[in-house]
Amino acid sequence: VQRRPRPDARTFIGGGKAAEIQTAAGELGADLIVFDDDLSPSQVKNLEKILEVEVYDRSALILEIFYQRARTREARTQVELAQLSYMLPRLTRQWTHLSRQMGGIGGRGGEGETQLEVDRRMLRKRIEQLKKDLKKIERSRQVQRRNRRDVLQVALAGYTNAGKSTLFNALTKAGTQVEDRLFATLDSKLRRGALDRQTVAVFADTVGFIRKLPHHLVASFKSTLEEITFADLVLHVVDRSHAQWREQLEVGEEVLEDLGTDASKVLTVFNKIDLTGDRTRPIDGGLMVSALTGDGLDELRAEMLHRLAPQAVDTSPPSS
Ligand code: GTP
Repeated sequence: VQRRPRPDARTFIGGGKAAEIQTAAGELGADLIVFDDDLSPSQVKNLEKILEVEVYDRSALILEIFYQRARTREARTQVELAQLSYMLPRLTRQWTHLSRQMGGIGGRGGEGETQLEVDRRMLRKRIEQLKKDLKKIERSRQVQRRNRRDVLQVALAGYTNAGKSTLFNALTKAGTQVEDRLFATLDSKLRRGALDRQTVAVFADTVGFIRKLPHHLVASFKSTLEEITFADLVLHVVDRSHAQWREQLEVGEEVLEDLGTDASKVLTVFNKIDLTGDRTRPIDGGLMVSALTGDGLDELRAEMLHRLAPQAVDTSPPSS
């Protein structure tokens, strides 16, 4: 624990604290030190010199997790774009021969161009390409969305590990991966689910939110998160059993606002009430459910129908 008026420009934590951590890391045999804040490129470099182990800041760790979770082409493109955008300002002279790592594209440019300049140029080029690829993917998403425009659309949003995928499965009776780990869902998934005997909606499961999610990461995942903006109704799932549920609720509300989501379209769903046994609604209009036991899901469906009623189209076969 440390109190200081402002972060140290060179090492973020200051020389004394860095020495203390170096000793502790040595005793523990640590091979990685993670900072819960974002560090400047030079702070990472200075800390690695003092600590003699690899240093990750918050963005680097999140990117690493995203990288491991990305499955589809869209998610992989988004993660690579985020990673390269993160790397670009961090390129230093030590970072040699990116050209070889990246398969020899680019090559040495005009007279006097340093390796660093070549590397930067190549990164920028790759970033441009990835942005173009993402545009293409976005366009095909738009087409898919247009094909769905007559169907009610419900997006599930919320803090990572809140239980979105579990609720998604319960509402669509499907078997997508549900795992007790962060960011299990990197791609938005779509599946139909019935609200009652006449009404069907398309549900979208989306990437989880997180406190202090660096803004450049939100930008990279824009196309996935757009499912939220285009939905007729957004279920904001909150893990009521989590010690920090209030903070997670606020983070979720902020992200939804940043995305330009109309607040009137958001329905807050407090999940995991089987763990708390508490059914009192923390906020007006919030619903209490357990995606795991199915408790409260009938009320949730009824509320969704009620909220979607003006848009609902009868999809039942015509009676003669
Ligand atoms: P990300 O994809 O990481 O954003 O997570 P998510 O919000 O989709 O959460 P997920 O559905 O993967 O659930 C996270 C963990 O919470 C899993 O271990 C679930 O089994 C558990 N869980 C979800 N809903 C409930 C619930 O109602 N009760 C209990 N006890 N556990 C739940």
